[in-house]
Amino acid sequence: MKALVIAVDGFASCGKSTLARDLAQALGYRYIDSGAMYRAVTYQMLELGLPPIESVGLDQMLGALDLKFVTSNGINQLMVNGLVLVSELRSKAVNAAVSPVSTLPSVRLAMVALQRSYADGTGLTMDGRDIGTHVFPQADLKFFVSARPEVRAKRRQAELIASGDTSWTLDEILENQAQRDLIDSNRDFAPLKRAEDAIDLDNSDLSREEQLAWALKWVEERGGI
Ligand code: CDP
Repeated sequence: MKALVIAVDGFASCGKSTLARDLAQALGYRYIDSGAMYRAVTYQMLELGLPPIESVGLDQMLGALDLKFVTSNGINQLMVNGLVLVSELRSKAVNAAVSPVSTLPSVRLAMVALQRSYADGTGLTMDGRDIGTHVFPQADLKFFVSARPEVRAKRRQAELIASGDTSWTLDEILENQAQRDLIDSNRDFAPLKRAEDAIDLDNSDLSREEQLAWALKWVEERGGI
């Protein structure tokens, strides 16, 4: 049995984080939500009024940024400069700006360095867009997740409502997803792309339990169980 690095990539709101989190819990691994890191950078840029371009102000902000994943009540959350941010990272403003910000090489270089530092040999699941292609090209197991756009939008809307945010229509969510997928797939630096050795998962018609059971079989196949 060995402690694996598991990469979970795919399009917006297709259940990557649910799968990565459930796998980490089942296996006793650490889980890292790389999207939350890009959202935190975006949030800070909006707070400081920085435009989504390379700038001295951005470099200074990145140099001073303190990102830490903390577990509170069994939930993995991101602490940004000492504050746990949750709904702030899912606001309309952050959703609109996060993909343009994530095209910036200085942002990606800083986040990727941090992401790689989490692989300490004790088992890691990480979800994102470039985990299997760029962050951990040698990952032991890579999943590429997709689901039908309407299914993804409905899941995201249910998630937002559960968190108390009822401000999004289904059409707004669909539009934001499509726009982010387009920008994420077409940027120059580490675009969203299926790794050649990734295992495809379309979870449109799978329950959370079914998707986990299916993924655990692959963990076993790779010697992780
Ligand atoms: O949860 P959802 O799939 O909607 O998004 P997320 O994983 O929180 O990621 C938000 C945004 O961060 C994405 O649309 C990308 O622009 C960016 N991102 C990225 O560029 N690279 C990653 N490894 C993860 C996220």
